[in-house]
Amino acid sequence: MISAFGFRDCLRKKPEVYNPNSSTSNMTQLVWLVTGCSSGFGEAFVHSILARGDKIIATARNVSKLDSLGANGAQILQLDITASQEQLDSCMKDALAIYGHIDVLVNNAGYTELGTLEEMMHDRWLAQLGTNLFGTINVTRSLMPHFREKKSGVVVFIGSMAGWKGDAVAGAYCSSKAALEIVVESFQAETESLGIKSLIVEPGMFRTALLSANNIKSVDNKFQEYKTLSDAVIGGAKGYSGQQQGDPYKAVEVIIDIVKQEGKAAGKGIPAKLPLGADAVAVMRKKCTDVLKLLDDWEEISSSTGFSLGT
Ligand SMILES: NC(=O)c1ccc[n+]([C@@H]2O[C@H](COP(=O)([O-])OP(=O)(O)OC[C@H]3O[C@@H](n4cnc5c(N)ncnc54)[C@H](OP(=O)(O)O)[C@@H]3O)[C@@H](O)[C@H]2O)c1
Repeated sequence: MISAFGFRDCLRKKPEVYNPNSSTSNMTQLVWLVTGCSSGFGEAFVHSILARGDKIIATARNVSKLDSLGANGAQILQLDITASQEQLDSCMKDALAIYGHIDVLVNNAGYTELGTLEEMMHDRWLAQLGTNLFGTINVTRSLMPHFREKKSGVVVFIGSMAGWKGDAVAGAYCSSKAALEIVVESFQAETESLGIKSLIVEPGMFRTALLSANNIKSVDNKFQEYKTLSDAVIGGAKGYSGQQQGDPYKAVEVIIDIVKQEGKAAGKGIPAKLPLGADAVAVMRKKCTDVLKLLDDWEEISSSTGFSLGT
């Protein structure tokens, strides 16, 4: 089974399904804010959301890349998700002034950094988690007062099947998505009684610019012992750009169907997690069966560490 970066397989249980929430099931025209709209999933979201008749505030750190989306009807805002909390709050204030409210936040912006634990220095680890994890958390924090006040809203997090298994040379990226996974579980437990719905999407490999030479980052190989592995993973990832099986437009249509409770998703509610792509389904299923086997194999020993009765 191929995993996110080509070598091994992967993980956990079938996602739970929430009941539909009245605040999402009856909405017809939604206002979306999507991060990272200059390419890939973000760009696809803009086209698909507009085609559905909804409104979108498309954001990017370099808005000159969004000119054609603006010409098609998207509202454009500059947003680097690594900006300070004050800057993010100010950006969300501007965003809310456009239509008076926002119904759906899509935390999409992110990038991939490859390198072994030993060869990737602390600043690069911080940058990877600073964007994929902390940037996502901070953007969400900026919109939460609005969602809490109106007691509704949907937050879509773009995770990854890479968050379900640590691949060699991809620890920084995988850990950013794995941490996001747990952050979202906690967030869901904190907000389910507030009328706010959220979903973490776990895409497999989709044909976006993620692995393109311009967007992917990697550290130089330093130690001979890692060279073969590093060359294979980094070269493999770059070489795979443009070959990915997944169609990003089909992916965003599924996500929009879920949020709007339309099409095949009608009446199914918003799941806590959504694997997207047959590869993601396989990786997540394998993780689950591997963990179940581990529990079966070790349960007796693992469960033997309590105080004896009466002591
Ligand atoms: N494609 C896949 O196979 C796949 C699989 C699993 C998960 N994902 C996730 O899907 C999300 C979207 O990626 P993609 O596949 O669509 O790749 P992409 O085409 O490279 O798009 C990534 C977007 O994120 C933006 N971005 C990066 N850092 C940012 C920052 N600090 N502030 C604002 N925007 C920033 C990029 O903007 P610039 O143009 O300014 O760089 C770009 O618009 C990412 O979170 C990625 O991890 C992708």
